[in-house]
Amino acid sequence: MDAKKEKQNRIRELATKHNAVILAHYYVADEIQEVADFLGDSLYLAQQAQSTDADVILFCGVNFMAETAKILNPQKIVIVPDNTATCSLAECLDATDCIQWKQRFDNPYLISYINCATEVKTISDVICTSSNALKIVESAPKDATLLFAPDVNLGNWLNKTLGVNMQIWNGHCVVHHNYKLGKLMECMTLHPRAEVIAHPECPEEILQYADFVGSTTGIINYAKKGSCDAFIVLTEVGVLRTLQMNSPEKHFYTIHSNPPICVNMKRHSLDKAILALDTLSPQITMNEDIRLAAYKPLAKMLELSK
Ligand code: 13P
Ligand code: SF4
Repeated sequence: MDAKKEKQNRIRELATKHNAVILAHYYVADEIQEVADFLGDSLYLAQQAQSTDADVILFCGVNFMAETAKILNPQKIVIVPDNTATCSLAECLDATDCIQWKQRFDNPYLISYINCATEVKTISDVICTSSNALKIVESAPKDATLLFAPDVNLGNWLNKTLGVNMQIWNGHCVVHHNYKLGKLMECMTLHPRAEVIAHPECPEEILQYADFVGSTTGIINYAKKGSCDAFIVLTEVGVLRTLQMNSPEKHFYTIHSNPPICVNMKRHSLDKAILALDTLSPQITMNEDIRLAAYKPLAKMLELSK
């Protein structure tokens, strides 16, 4: 048996021993995706975290995702393979700046993207992910001043798609914001029949060429069901495993020869997952008042997503 398989078997043994469920985002390394009980986008993983009857959740994603699991299911032990896996986008806004920003508007209604700090969630009216953002924004009160944080590209795309005029915080993701229009043009010229499928965290100049804009799961479903046999993929390369597995006969292209990767998602390894399950650490912990305040807008999102 090869070393990878041995480690994966050890992870499964430890997960059984501790009655642990393994949740993984599409952007983590393939070898971690392979051992997950549930692999998905941020909304799906939050839903799984809320409904699991396991005693322990091993969350292989970035910290705001593991914190969301704890907020939704505080009785569970939530552990992560590497607790330095932060999100560049979530780090673009802290709660103090957010409070000051909110105070500048009359009757503000803050819609926060799930990629934000727990403290920002506590002062948000509702949370959204890229898969439910259209629905969440549409459900916002019509008489309020709508604020959207922290992703400027997703916010602009929502404003344009829905014809609304939300005030938007100027944050971005270091991965998606760095796709270059010139590279997309070159790729479209090389593969003129390929459809462009993009995550809404990409800049507007890129999104205008997309045949489909959606969450990681949305992108995966679109490519699987679509009749086209070639796609230019504008999201983190971790999704390529599922795209190719679902449709081995289709072609998937990235626009950069070395596409930007989410280095934080890639911090998790099989060795770190073994150690986390063995020692039940590092654990996600949080103050109960903060958790309760962050729970409210998250619960509202999950209710509106049904
Ligand atoms: P999804 O909601 O599509 O999983 O996106 C999360 C994310 O971090 C994208 O960069
Ligand atoms: Fe955050 Fe960007 Fe990584 Fe998504 S890809 S987790 S937004 S840094």
